[in-house]
Amino acid sequence: MPSKSIKLTSEAKIVAIVNNKGGVGKTTATVHIGCALAQAGKKVLCVDMDTQANLAQNFLTRKYVNTALKNAQNGSPLPPERHSSGVDILTLSFYEATEKVYIASIQARKNEYDFILIDSPPSLEKRTIASLQASEYILIPTEAEQFAFSGISNLLQLAATYNLKVLGVFINKYDPKKQVHKAFRSFIADQFSQVFLNDSIPMSTVFPNAQAENKTGFEFYSSKKSNPALEAYHAIAKSMIEA
Ligand SMILES: Nc1ncnc2c1ncn2[C@@H]1O[C@H](COP(=O)(O)OP(=O)(O)OP(=O)(O)O)[C@@H](O)[C@H]1O
Ligand SMILES: [Mg+2]
Repeated sequence: MPSKSIKLTSEAKIVAIVNNKGGVGKTTATVHIGCALAQAGKKVLCVDMDTQANLAQNFLTRKYVNTALKNAQNGSPLPPERHSSGVDILTLSFYEATEKVYIASIQARKNEYDFILIDSPPSLEKRTIASLQASEYILIPTEAEQFAFSGISNLLQLAATYNLKVLGVFINKYDPKKQVHKAFRSFIADQFSQVFLNDSIPMSTVFPNAQAENKTGFEFYSSKKSNPALEAYHAIAKSMIEA
């Protein structure tokens, strides 16, 4: 008998990256975990479900995003586009469809990849619900502050409603020099100890600077020295492979 940990099918782990609070780092996390998984040899599809199309902009050119918009207006999304990192990107941002069609568009790809990561909008609208319904897992980025913290219980309840396995709650934009960040981090770690990921993503200029050039942090950061924020994304990707 094979042990339980052996994956018997070649289906992708489909992961919704969700927090209805805006700006906590859903898109940045999706991009960098996607790249870290690809660097670990995994086949990865990142899906942009947000009408802001920030994920597509981070990975791809303005020309591509404009073409995705035109195609969607004509009734069909573009097929996945390969980024130099090896990650494929499916842009559903401009494609108006029912939940059922979104779910089918994502799940139709599950035999082609090891991971499908879905970047969701900052609200609990149809697109986010479709992301949750298409997924088997949820990953929740948050910030170490009051309003972000107070939404976590609701998100975990939502995950239970959709029968999702929680890959983790992790803190983004963490500054250990800030007393308030340290206090909220230990509070969140205590309150949600079953799902809390120890690897917090430090506050880093790498992400906004890279995004200003339509690049990922991995492309932008050329130094041979390791970067703690990028390393933290590697650690989270590793925990997702092992989950
Ligand atoms: N670790 C970090 N350190 C510093 N800045 C960061 C970090 N992670 C993300 N950012 C910046 O924070 C901003 C918001 O990040 P991002 O767009 O990923 O959040 P989001 O949750 O996807 O936002 P939205 O809710 O609008 O979709 C961006 O300018 C991004 O560059
Ligand atoms: Mg976003």
